[in-house]
Amino acid sequence: MKRTLAEATRLESAALKVALKALTLPLTVPVVRRDRHLLWRLFETCFGSQRPSVYPEVALGELVEPHSEVRVVELPSETFNVTEFELFCIAAVASAIEPARIVEFGTADGRTTLNLARNSPAHCQVVTINLPLEDDAGHVQDTAVGSRFLNTAESSRIVQIWGDTRTVDLSPYQGACQLVFIDADHSEEGVVADSLTALKLLDRDALILWHDALRYGVQRGLPRLARERQLPIHLISGTNLACLFFVDGKPAPPRRLSRVREPA
Ligand SMILES: C[S@@+](CC[C@H](N)C(=O)[O-])C[C@H]1O[C@@H](n2cnc3c(N)ncnc32)[C@H](O)[C@@H]1O
Repeated sequence: MKRTLAEATRLESAALKVALKALTLPLTVPVVRRDRHLLWRLFETCFGSQRPSVYPEVALGELVEPHSEVRVVELPSETFNVTEFELFCIAAVASAIEPARIVEFGTADGRTTLNLARNSPAHCQVVTINLPLEDDAGHVQDTAVGSRFLNTAESSRIVQIWGDTRTVDLSPYQGACQLVFIDADHSEEGVVADSLTALKLLDRDALILWHDALRYGVQRGLPRLARERQLPIHLISGTNLACLFFVDGKPAPPRRLSRVREPA
């Protein structure tokens, strides 16, 4: 009984601390980075709509060779970035397939862009698209779009396109991309539109990665697309990343990744 009372008191004191923190968060969030992360985690826990079994799953270890090398930089994440492990997965995929061209929908601060470039061959071009920040009221970041890759060794092979992914002209890249990463407009219609554009960009052996597969409109748009077009979209276990493989121009289940083309 004494122990139960002690536990209840501890729990009450913890609950009070949480309540106090929740009350002060709106004041500290704009200035304290750690609190922004805390808010994000609390929000995910209380209101997150992550549902298991939406997609079949594949483990990262099933996709990459045991000898794979991955180099990840700019690991600390902002709330709008992919997580540390997701960044590692994306870098591992790029490293394994050795693409000649990558397209990213949604640059934000360029953390993923930089890691895509760093983990791809020296001849690989990385094209990344983002709205000018003043045109995107729904996205808040303190730094410039692409700031994490500015003045890096990779910046010369990163092509930054300003515009709406639904309307920018990507025809020069049609059929010529081995990897597309979609992480821009997270509405159901937005992700479907971006996915249909991505399908046109793909080379015969290629793959698409999506972020937030279990969140926002993506969790509805992507399974719908998979159903309607019979696409074997899988979730990478332990992440919010979905993937779709193309082999010889046809959608295919996930497989161990290898170089998609010989260097020119
Ligand atoms: C979640 S962030 C991208 C994060 C980034 N890919 C990363 O891994 O760190 C989404 C970005 O997409 C941009 N965005 C949203 N809708 C867009 C659209 N329709 N066209 C272009 N960019 C868009 C936002 O301005 C924001 O920078």
